[in-house]
Amino acid sequence: MSVLELKNVTAAYGNAEVLHGINLKVEPGGAVGILGANGAGKTTTLRAVSGMVKTGGEIIFDGRKIRGLRPDQVAALGIAHVPQGRGTLARLSVKDNMLIGAYRRKDSRAVTADLEHYFDLFPQLGARRNNLAAALSGGEQQMLAIGRAFMSKPKLVLLDEPSLGLAPGTAKGVYEAISELRRESGLSMVVVEQNAVLAFSIVEHAIVLETGRGVLAGPRDELMGMDAIREAYLGG
Ligand SMILES: Nc1ncnc2c1ncn2[C@@H]1O[C@H](COP(=O)(O)OP(=O)(O)OP(=O)(O)O)[C@@H](O)[C@H]1O
Ligand SMILES: [Mg+2]
Repeated sequence: MSVLELKNVTAAYGNAEVLHGINLKVEPGGAVGILGANGAGKTTTLRAVSGMVKTGGEIIFDGRKIRGLRPDQVAALGIAHVPQGRGTLARLSVKDNMLIGAYRRKDSRAVTADLEHYFDLFPQLGARRNNLAAALSGGEQQMLAIGRAFMSKPKLVLLDEPSLGLAPGTAKGVYEAISELRRESGLSMVVVEQNAVLAFSIVEHAIVLETGRGVLAGPRDELMGMDAIREAYLGG
């Protein structure tokens, strides 16, 4: 059984429908990429899963129909959403941002252990644990947003352009961190990216959106071999 399945999902802002029937499946422990140009509907697809936009069709998570749930209800089921543009709380410390990710957990000892473990994995955050999030660099904020999502012990993480605005070396570091967290936790993820080279470094499957429709879908290697993908996303 898939962890997440989207069947013919539509979404609209007001009366303007911007997704016209998206299909997507994420297997347990799997990672699926969503590629596409600006405005194709990548962010809206993640918002549809999180209950942040008016949707049609079917969204099934862990065997349960979740379409129509509120964002907090979706999060409580174990879906963590790292929004485009990071979304850390600037006026809170690094540590408090991380702990907010864990606010639903009752296992406070394990939360403390996870926090320390995360700060070991990402020493640049550990060293700044008492600093305000506002004082972090872009790459550090991205790490923090991802770390906060993992602190909730989710079953599924939705990542919206983790590489956006980062220097190539920093973006690669962020992706290595995501891979490491995934190896450790075995969770599933959906990764939105315009940088297909980075996306393909972690996903096994991907879909390509064009103006609110899925135009290509398949295993990573198959997509990487296609001329259309190479020209549009992999630099020829
Ligand atoms: N809050 C909103 N209100 C109205 N229309 C919106 C809103 N957010 C997005 N749209 C429209 O929905 C369509 C899909 O936008 P979306 O943000 O999902 O694209 P995207 O693929 O994530 O693009 P990008 O790569 O630029 O982040 C676009 O035409 C956009 O203009
Ligand atoms: Mg977007």
